[in-house]
Amino acid sequence: MGSPEILRDVAALRRTVAGWRKDGETVGLVPTMGALHEGHLTLVRAAKARCDRAIATIFVNPKQFDRKEDLASYPRSEAEDLRLLESVGCDALFAPLDVSVIYPPGFASKVSVEGLTACLDGLHRPGHFDGVTTVVSKLLLQALPDLAFFGEKDFQQLTVVTRMARDLDIPVEIAPVPTVREPDGLAMSSRNRLLAPEQRALAPLLARVLHETAEAIAVDPTAEAAPFLAQARHRLGRGGFDKLDYVELRAADDLAELAVLDRPGRLLAAAWLGRTRLIDNVPVG
Ligand code: PAF
Repeated sequence: MGSPEILRDVAALRRTVAGWRKDGETVGLVPTMGALHEGHLTLVRAAKARCDRAIATIFVNPKQFDRKEDLASYPRSEAEDLRLLESVGCDALFAPLDVSVIYPPGFASKVSVEGLTACLDGLHRPGHFDGVTTVVSKLLLQALPDLAFFGEKDFQQLTVVTRMARDLDIPVEIAPVPTVREPDGLAMSSRNRLLAPEQRALAPLLARVLHETAEAIAVDPTAEAAPFLAQARHRLGRGGFDKLDYVELRAADDLAELAVLDRPGRLLAAAWLGRTRLIDNVPVG
């Protein structure tokens, strides 16, 4: 397999996609912030399975970081990323060298989705989803792929981006891809590489507690979820997590809070190990 064609600006991206389109080929887009892992490669494989061509994007988007420190410490590894993309047959990589390629001087617009962003990560990371929807809308409009692939690991992001594409009539299908996990259950994330060995050893508890709590809630859909959620928080605190942002049961379609499991649900959590924030979620019912 050849190395992906590297595209550094929007004109090059558009030229490459136009060339493929001229030959009647379909295009799948995989937006990322780099520091790629098996989860991202699964997204690229999904794009290759459903489209003739796959483009990955790598852009560490400053607008979606609510903490300067998080942006500064976000892992960056383009040479290794390129090697991994080649290994799965990715056709092109759009990786701007400078933030001004995406946000030129004078950039003044914001794409914002209401409602869905008022809870969970939206509450704990002010401005985060406006940053995500602003950059994702730009990437979708720049590349105009047939499909764009997003992992279920960022379930709220997937829900928000799907709503945005629908609300704005962006002619792209948002394709969800199941979370990829380490053998011990930890959801794959670029942030995992920031964990110290003792934190890495504790981290799989998050997935274990979510799976077990989801199973317990599903046993009796008429039972109040609150005691199960309290028990999950207690287990995570006792198990060594330093801080919990949330453990919540939400509706799988519109993220409404569910007191009982009266429709398909999603159990979502965000918890800290030291300075690293992990998120995860599982289906319920
Ligand atoms: O999930 C991510 O890596 C980012 O939020 C995304 C979708 C690439 C937008 O910057």
